[in-house]
Amino acid sequence: MQAVSGSVFPRCWKMILLPALLLILWGEPGLCLEEDRGLVFDGHIRRFAVANDTVYVATEEKLYQLSHDLTPVQNLTLRGIFKDGSRQALFYRVSEGAEWNGTLSINILLPFVENHTLISCGVSDYECGYCEILDLKNISNRIYSENVRVGPTKRSSASVAFLVRLKKSLAHTYILSATQNYDGTNYQTLNLHNTNNDQIGEIFAVIDYQSTPKIVCTGNVEFVDGFQISSTIYLLSNLPSGPKNTVRLSWLEAKEKKSDTFKSLRTVTLSVSDGGSSRLLSSSLIPGGSLWSGVFTVDGGQTNTELLVFDIGPDFTGGTETDFCPLATSKTLKPKAVLFRQKHMSSVLAVRQRGWMVFFIGTGDGQLIKLAVDKNYHTTCPKVLYRADDDRQMFPQILLDQVDRRHVYVAFRDQMKLVPVSKCSTYTTVQQCWSAQDPHCVWCGSKQSCTFEDDCKDSDWVSIPDHFQQKMVSYQLVKNSTGPIKLNIQTHLTVSQVPSNFTCHISGPSTEFCGTNWPPPQFPQCTCILTNGTIPAQGLHVTVRIRLGTVNLAEKLKLTSCPDIGGSPSSVLCQQCVKSGCSWSNNGCSWANEGVMNDSVCQTMESGMNFSRPEITSISPSVVSFYGRNHAVLSGHNLSDVTRVKIQMDATCSPQESPVWNNTDGSCHGNSQITYQSSPSCTKLEPSSTWSSGKRIITLTGSHLEFVEGIIHSHTPQEVTDPRNSSSQTLTYDTPAAGNSGGSFTSSVSLKVANETLVCSTSFTYYPDPEFISFTSIRMGDNVRITLKKKADKLELTLADVSVWGLQEEKQFPCIMREKGTSTETEFFVCEIQSAPDLEFQHLLIKYGDQRVTLGPSSLLHQVLLILRILLIPCASVALVIICRWLKKLTAETTNL
Ligand SMILES: *[C@@H]1O[C@H](CO)[C@@H](O)[C@H](O)[C@H]1NC(C)=O
Ligand SMILES: *[C@@H]1O[C@H](CO)[C@@H](O)[C@H](O)[C@H]1NC(C)=O
Ligand SMILES: *[C@@H]1O[C@H](CO)[C@@H](O)[C@H](O)[C@H]1NC(C)=O
Ligand SMILES: *[C@@H]1O[C@H](CO)[C@@H](O)[C@H](O)[C@H]1NC(C)=O
Ligand SMILES: *[C@@H]1O[C@H](CO)[C@@H](O)[C@H](O)[C@H]1NC(C)=O
Ligand SMILES: *[C@@H]1O[C@H](CO)[C@@H](O)[C@H](O)[C@H]1NC(C)=O
Ligand SMILES: *[C@@H]1O[C@H](CO)[C@@H](O)[C@H](O)[C@H]1NC(C)=O
Ligand SMILES: *[C@@H]1O[C@H](CO)[C@@H](O)[C@H](O)[C@H]1NC(C)=O
Ligand SMILES: *[C@@H]1O[C@H](CO)[C@@H](O)[C@H](O)[C@H]1NC(C)=O
Repeated sequence: MQAVSGSVFPRCWKMILLPALLLILWGEPGLCLEEDRGLVFDGHIRRFAVANDTVYVATEEKLYQLSHDLTPVQNLTLRGIFKDGSRQALFYRVSEGAEWNGTLSINILLPFVENHTLISCGVSDYECGYCEILDLKNISNRIYSENVRVGPTKRSSASVAFLVRLKKSLAHTYILSATQNYDGTNYQTLNLHNTNNDQIGEIFAVIDYQSTPKIVCTGNVEFVDGFQISSTIYLLSNLPSGPKNTVRLSWLEAKEKKSDTFKSLRTVTLSVSDGGSSRLLSSSLIPGGSLWSGVFTVDGGQTNTELLVFDIGPDFTGGTETDFCPLATSKTLKPKAVLFRQKHMSSVLAVRQRGWMVFFIGTGDGQLIKLAVDKNYHTTCPKVLYRADDDRQMFPQILLDQVDRRHVYVAFRDQMKLVPVSKCSTYTTVQQCWSAQDPHCVWCGSKQSCTFEDDCKDSDWVSIPDHFQQKMVSYQLVKNSTGPIKLNIQTHLTVSQVPSNFTCHISGPSTEFCGTNWPPPQFPQCTCILTNGTIPAQGLHVTVRIRLGTVNLAEKLKLTSCPDIGGSPSSVLCQQCVKSGCSWSNNGCSWANEGVMNDSVCQTMESGMNFSRPEITSISPSVVSFYGRNHAVLSGHNLSDVTRVKIQMDATCSPQESPVWNNTDGSCHGNSQITYQSSPSCTKLEPSSTWSSGKRIITLTGSHLEFVEGIIHSHTPQEVTDPRNSSSQTLTYDTPAAGNSGGSFTSSVSLKVANETLVCSTSFTYYPDPEFISFTSIRMGDNVRITLKKKADKLELTLADVSVWGLQEEKQFPCIMREKGTSTETEFFVCEIQSAPDLEFQHLLIKYGDQRVTLGPSSLLHQVLLILRILLIPCASVALVIICRWLKKLTAETTNL
């Protein structure tokens, strides 16, 4: 499962041909891993909801009430009895310990916060609907229950249900359930169920005045999400039609009557991938407006996913629709922006933090990624907040902790975690705090630390501005033909309040560097007029100290005279010019007031460098685990003088440089994709033991084993064994020798991935080497059948572990392993030498691992016994007794002779 992909932009300066170079791929480009807390349930999670300070989780077995930090408060067993044995039986949920003969599977879990109730609906066995109204603060307190169908009858079904208000009062709250109507009964695709007995009909009823308002779907539909914003109800669905899927947005206008509400239905198709097949996987409204985000698959498959933003403000023009799923609709809606392209995204939650939109994105391989986006849809570097150790798909729903909004709830199968939205305290300077580009963090003046905004209530603070900026402090060098050089310094900050004392202090080579007559600083800007009319050719180092209330910033700048930044025009020169506070005009660098200061002008320039651009044709491996890889090979042309390779994860993440280790002739430029995936894990070792001399072939089973660079045994930590062979699921390797450790002992196995060692949880044992005792041979036609006797041990030697040859003088005859037998004290291996010469084999050569053992024949009597025992292995004990008696007799006779 892919997680983050990045491009490799090599920097190459000269031209010499070379085919390959070796480098390090850093683990986790631009990512940081955060700690987490979690709770494991007794069954898979089916639904979960958050209301104020409480979390409700319905698993296959139970319904839990948890506090917001996931401390269990209480639970209900989802079991009940059917009143009479018929299929139409009435179902009643029973408490723990009571007699039961039916189970309940919850499909709908709706906290009705204003009414202090929790509405829970599901299906019992026989697909009978069952709903309960529970006390929100104490789910053991059941207020009402009824055998009624709300929502789907199938246990798994793409349906949604949520509370809607048809008028502003609480009394006009209804449950909107949207379900594919399987049975064609009077249950509709869209239903508005009552939430109280004062509404027309009674609680859970769908009728409206005389009739039941209808919205049906004549096709196939899967509902993904639904919600209400003021008087508009939104529904998002997938309409599969053959191999193609289209994504639909539907609007309903909340009207006092259910039927009038349904009559307002309007639908548009979301245009995602140029008319191709796309599918909505998860959706989240961006709070505070009509912007909405969705995770879509875009290639018809499941792999390539995108996070898109649409403005879903309603459009109630056009005619009424009665079929929810017409195949053709005329209207389409185009996205506002594509925010993020990433493989296997599966869930999204959007929140707002000051001027930023913040997205929490779950992936199919168990990662939670945070992405901050400004109002111009400029994204900051994505951060991984949490990563599961294995490829566990995240639940499509991610919810925010409503108490302090500092955590999100994520769920995987039977597990739920509370993941902090930020770890502000890990940034220790104002510079780091700002550079994290995290809208949740501020630099708190009184505490002199990076904190959540709420934790800095009594002080002034600074944070990133509301629109993306590369630097906290930028500057410009301004000069006209007659005037002096002016240094304009600009801070890019959000401040808790406009600082009443905002000062700039600029120290250069002399104290009068700035002169005295500069204009008073005015937040966010200050200006310095350079007293000395020029900047020396080698540049000028100055330090800018800025004070905003109790917050102090310091920035070192190197000033260069703009016209001195010369050379043949190139993209690199242009960038250097703009970075130096100058502007680019007429293919040259000039003072800031004279040209374009945006470095986008540089990106459009052709490179003026007169060397062959390095070219990358491939990178191997191109898929690595999150721990990175210590050896990677880039192949291409013009790679010879490449000194460093930049790995860029995302346009806004600062690239990480990898040193080049080795460089063969030949040569690079261009970029190549590297995919970062989950780390390997091992689940089984087979066999789970080895003999002390080592070199037994072990097969390791697990996931992502192709990323394993070596295997380490705990008793020889220095020895790293290369894998013999590896695929994603299996890996084989040869065990190291026991070394100085004698006898039997356990040795834990670890996988080496880049600089990480991951311990396999399964145990592994070293035993003494096998002891072969003797052998016998029998001729069978052209072939000779050899029976090899070995002392019984715990090694569980297989036929593949041992190779045997018959020795005749100088010649070796391979003996093909046929079968193995075991008795209490001995083990037997039977092998066959084909087309054997007429002579007896005097010796055997036995090989296991790297060991070679030569064995002589056993005595005649032994041979007889052995053969008999071999023959006996599959026989019943009766036969054994008889033959043993016969044998005793034979032995006695032999002795008597
Ligand atoms: C592994 O450690 C070495 C030595 O500290 C370092 O040079 C190298 O970059 C590290 N590799 C990765 C992939 O982090
Ligand atoms: C939400 O929780 C807080 C703290 O427990 C409580 O004071 C408040 O009344 C709750 N609000 C509702 C609507 O239950
Ligand atoms: C469920 O609640 C009972 C008490 O009502 C408690 O003993 C039990 O530990 C709870 N089970 C879980 C899994 O939390
Ligand atoms: C379930 O148990 C109840 C009470 O013990 C009994 O009346 C009913 O017939 C049973 N129903 C089924 C379907 O077994
Ligand atoms: C609140 O819930 C109770 C219990 O279900 C119900 O009797 C009452 O009518 C509800 N009130 C509203 C305004 O929905
Ligand atoms: C140059 O700048 C100075 C002060 O910065 C100003 O007084 C003067 O008018 C400017 N001259 C021209 C030609 O713009
Ligand atoms: C002013 O400029 C001159 C010539 O460039 C240089 O020698 C002198 O050191 C400068 N003085 C200051 C205070 O920067
Ligand atoms: C200016 O800053 C100083 C030092 O932080 C502080 O003591 C003083 O009260 C501030 N003055 C004003 C007017 O805010
Ligand atoms: C670099 O690679 C060449 C060819 O693969 C090899 O002969 C040489 O030993 C390597 N040098 C180093 C320092 O690894």
